[in-house]
Amino acid sequence: MGPTLTIGHATANGELAHTSEVPQLGLGTFLMKEEGECKEAVLAALKAGYKHIDTAMAYENEHEVGEAIGEAIENGIITREELFVTTKLRRPHAVGNEEVQQRCQESLENLGLEYVDLYLVHAPPKDPYHRKPTWKGMEECLKRGWTKAIGVSNYGAHHLDKMRSYATYMPSVNQIEIHPWLQRDALRAATEAVGATVMAYSPLARGDKVSDEKLAKISQELGCTPAQVAIKWCLDIGCITVPKSSNEGRIKENLGCLEVELGTQLDELKALDEHYISGWDPTSET
Ligand SMILES: NC(=O)c1ccc[n+]([C@@H]2O[C@H](COP(=O)([O-])OP(=O)(O)OC[C@H]3O[C@@H](n4cnc5c(N)ncnc54)[C@H](OP(=O)(O)O)[C@@H]3O)[C@@H](O)[C@H]2O)c1
Repeated sequence: MGPTLTIGHATANGELAHTSEVPQLGLGTFLMKEEGECKEAVLAALKAGYKHIDTAMAYENEHEVGEAIGEAIENGIITREELFVTTKLRRPHAVGNEEVQQRCQESLENLGLEYVDLYLVHAPPKDPYHRKPTWKGMEECLKRGWTKAIGVSNYGAHHLDKMRSYATYMPSVNQIEIHPWLQRDALRAATEAVGATVMAYSPLARGDKVSDEKLAKISQELGCTPAQVAIKWCLDIGCITVPKSSNEGRIKENLGCLEVELGTQLDELKALDEHYISGWDPTSET
């Protein structure tokens, strides 16, 4: 259910290698802390028709994501081939080639999967000297088939640009905070310039902006909910996005954004940009 985008890795000869199809809308799983919360949310999402789940080793819930996937596959709700699973290498683990490969294996064990669909470096390694060997480890994971695609998260334009000097495969995705209040035109353009697709995290600004008056007015005009407008905007500007909800009703509501058609409202949404960062911002680190 829902639109897909083709992602791939730009190579020096200008080709796009290791391409794959990614469902543009997925479920985020950050801050699902209660025992069983993540498993229940992922199961509800898969039953509702989601085909993409975004997790990370740092969220400490890969095992619950894996349990939900296992149960969903067993009950015929989805097949592994239809499903797209993204996970991430923890920042403190981004220190070298072998460490990356070990941690990728650990994530696969946690998830109970033979491969993930997308493996991301959660944030640029703190020590710039670790960036190249970390990426070489990521490329090794790709070559070994432990992941169908590799990418980065929270990389600024300068981090991406530097990758040209050491990457055999440029990242397929840069996952960054994007929503109507943080549109980042320049960083989105820089991401596309290296052949990568933008994955918008925190499309609801962590829930901070769901009650925004201007957003409420637009949603009333369209006869949908404020959250649906914000999420659909991320899709309409060409991003993959992964709104988080632990609530079955809101999980379905967010998927319902696919029915929303933004027309002239796109101009009103463009005007909401105010460089509002709801989380962290490693993109601006050196
Ligand atoms: N790479 C990174 O550094 C990074 C950083 C942050 C996030 N992410 C990823 O992106 C995902 C999404 O970002 P996020 O979790 O930070 O924030 P988000 O998706 O922008 O917002 C989540 C918040 O909005 C609420 N919410 C969800 N749907 C709603 C609706 N329809 N109406 C009203 N409130 C709603 C949720 O509460 P309920 O659960 O109660 O519905 C939760 O409090 C994460 O879960 C994670 O997978 C990645």
